[in-house]
Amino acid sequence: MTNVEVRSIAKNYGSVPVLTDISTDFTQGSFTSLLGPSGSGKTTLLRIIAGFIIPDQGNVAIGGNDVTRMPVWARNIGMVFQSYALFPHMTVNENVAFGLARRGIKGEESRKQVERALELVRLPGFGDRKPKQLSGGQQQRVALARAIVTKPSVLLLDEPLSALDRRLRQEMQVELIRIQKESGLTTIFVTHDQEEALTLSDKVAILDRGRIVQIGAPTEVYERPKTRFAAEFLGDTNFLTGTVVAGGIRLANGSTVAVDAPLPATGSEATVAVRPEKIVIRDVARGGKDTDRSNRVSATISSSVYAGTALTYEAAFDGLSFKIFAQNSDARPHSVGDVVELTWSPLHTVPLEAAA
Ligand SMILES: Nc1ncnc2c1ncn2[C@@H]1O[C@H](COP(=O)(O)OP(=O)(O)OP(=O)(O)O)[C@@H](O)[C@H]1O
Ligand SMILES: [Mg+2]
Repeated sequence: MTNVEVRSIAKNYGSVPVLTDISTDFTQGSFTSLLGPSGSGKTTLLRIIAGFIIPDQGNVAIGGNDVTRMPVWARNIGMVFQSYALFPHMTVNENVAFGLARRGIKGEESRKQVERALELVRLPGFGDRKPKQLSGGQQQRVALARAIVTKPSVLLLDEPLSALDRRLRQEMQVELIRIQKESGLTTIFVTHDQEEALTLSDKVAILDRGRIVQIGAPTEVYERPKTRFAAEFLGDTNFLTGTVVAGGIRLANGSTVAVDAPLPATGSEATVAVRPEKIVIRDVARGGKDTDRSNRVSATISSSVYAGTALTYEAAFDGLSFKIFAQNSDARPHSVGDVVELTWSPLHTVPLEAAA
């Protein structure tokens, strides 16, 4: 069941296209992240769905009704902005009750609904405080309570956690998922933090210069990125370019890398992506244990960065530098200058679409 549909949305500012041909569906009760770099059009798309911006082209439908030209207040959406913008002179109760009052809900009914919303964000008993008497995370939760108290059909969140420190942010992520699942709200969440998008979402939509370049489940977009941009934006990636041969690509140095996925025509050029954590380093000199990963290249460790739980290596081969993430489980980590073999599976060798 689709709750929000956008069709062929386009928006220009002057002659500058900000969104180009955006079409996608947001399923009832799902959590979708809009992920992309600064200026890619995330906020603009969210504001078009909310009704603050009218698109130049295309339509927005909520619950099957075309709302493209309907004003914000008539759309039944809840929105949390990046700066939580609580009314500083009002108490928590008054802040949360604000949207209810505008809908004519007052007195005992309002009091009950505010209490329920504050319970949902785990702030019962905080109603009489002013925003300045709350921590950043608590203010964020009040903003969330204010957005959901009116029982919207869609919840729109524009980087609501970006002002919080790492610890609080992780706590709020867990809370947000709980609230979203409990309330069953269709949620669209803007972020430029890839880990946050992967952690929270049912689906991730990757935006690049006003276009959705890929949309899918977190594992799908992370494990099978379609383009170089999507691969790079979702985390570190190694790229290999070569000539397509049967079952793989041949690199400039003559070695072949096996690819377990459809490739372009034999003889054409293709680029594949390999995530750094998919690569296992086998120490040639130490006779490290063999693996059944059929892709192997010999390389020399050129750098090693220690980060407690993990190590990041760079290894050079054939004029390329490969990044490798390794769990800190070896008795003796590799050193710069070690000659090693890098091995990985053809399943983790992902062909990319040629750049448009
Ligand atoms: N009112 C406006 N007038 C002109 N240009 C605008 C306007 N609003 C946004 N833009 C431009 O549109 C592009 C997309 O802006 P938008 O705010 O949607 O990006 P974003 O993906 O949310 O970025 P960020 O991560 O920095 O918040 C930017 O290049 C921005 O400068
Ligand atoms: Mg923005």
